[in-house]
Amino acid sequence: MSQSPQPLNGTLSKTDTMKAIRIHAYGGVENLQYDEVLRPEPQAGEVLVQVYAAGINPIDWKIREGYLKQAFNYALPVIVGTDLAGIVAEVGEGVTTLQPGQAVYGVADMTRSGSYAEYAVGYAEATAPKPEMLDFIHAASVPIAAMTAWQALFDGANLQTGQTVLIHGAAGGVGSYAIQFAKWKGATVIATASAVNADYVKGLGADQVIDYAAQPFEQQVKPVDVVLDLVGGDTQVRSWQILRSGGVLASTLGVPQTGIPAGIRAVPVFVNPRNPAQLQHIAQLIDQGQVKVTVEQVFPLAEAARAQTESQP
Ligand SMILES: NC(=O)c1ccc[n+]([C@@H]2O[C@H](COP(=O)([O-])OP(=O)(O)OC[C@H]3O[C@@H](n4cnc5c(N)ncnc54)[C@H](OP(=O)(O)O)[C@@H]3O)[C@@H](O)[C@H]2O)c1
Repeated sequence: MSQSPQPLNGTLSKTDTMKAIRIHAYGGVENLQYDEVLRPEPQAGEVLVQVYAAGINPIDWKIREGYLKQAFNYALPVIVGTDLAGIVAEVGEGVTTLQPGQAVYGVADMTRSGSYAEYAVGYAEATAPKPEMLDFIHAASVPIAAMTAWQALFDGANLQTGQTVLIHGAAGGVGSYAIQFAKWKGATVIATASAVNADYVKGLGADQVIDYAAQPFEQQVKPVDVVLDLVGGDTQVRSWQILRSGGVLASTLGVPQTGIPAGIRAVPVFVNPRNPAQLQHIAQLIDQGQVKVTVEQVFPLAEAARAQTESQP
């Protein structure tokens, strides 16, 4: 989602208000409310960002529906949204890595003040200089999806040059970065996607594309070193059999505690956005033209409900 912010003039006051999308209760998209609220202030270790664009992720609607209320301590009403790109407006005590006026991208802390707003706060460690090649809208679409792909492939599955990875859900936000990171690493990529997305994932570098709706993927591949599971459920269950001995399945949808075949490693992936070096490295790959960024649709802030409806299956 994007907005056309007014350039910052003079100093910010504690009584400044801003437009923001909040939920006052968990539930459907009708719960996304366009409110006038007090602008947040950064605390120690945080930055206040004037948001030029906010990204939309599946986690946004999952939070709205209350799926993550056990994991995160949200005091409702809360401003929703995680991914952002914008200009640093203020830095909290102890922040030396970022300065007011800097163009940045990163992840807002929704327990404090999310990114579907004119201003958001987040940890300075979850914010880095924006890729120079990207406008704010494209930059805002990157952080959560790209960091999840990076952490799953390299921190979780330890993907190596010359290995083969099968990526389920390769046409989605995380999958599209995973294809490109795996190719950058020198791996062979098999991607599952619907037929309509076959050319898209091939264009991102996939060596083989399997239309998951037309044919069982397990009948199309030889044993692979790594499965990146971005779909879960039956897709995950059917994936154990296509891993070679010593192989790894990393999943963003969780892995079972028991029943994993002997000799296979199962890695649950929970993205950690507090990694400025990773954000900087990803920005560098984008600026070098090694990683493409695709934005499907852009909505004004006031139409957050429409944006989340499009994002939700
Ligand atoms: N744990 C974490 O930290 C974390 C972080 C980020 C994301 N996630 C989760 O990871 C999942 C993926 O995230 P995302 O941002 O990439 O979602 P997304 O952009 O909505 O993409 C999901 C993709 O899955 C594909 N798909 C659906 N059913 C499929 C199947 N049976 N086989 C293969 N592909 C299938 C769809 O592609 P087609 O159009 O080709 O069908 C869609 O593009 C979501 O559930 C998200 O909540 C978790």
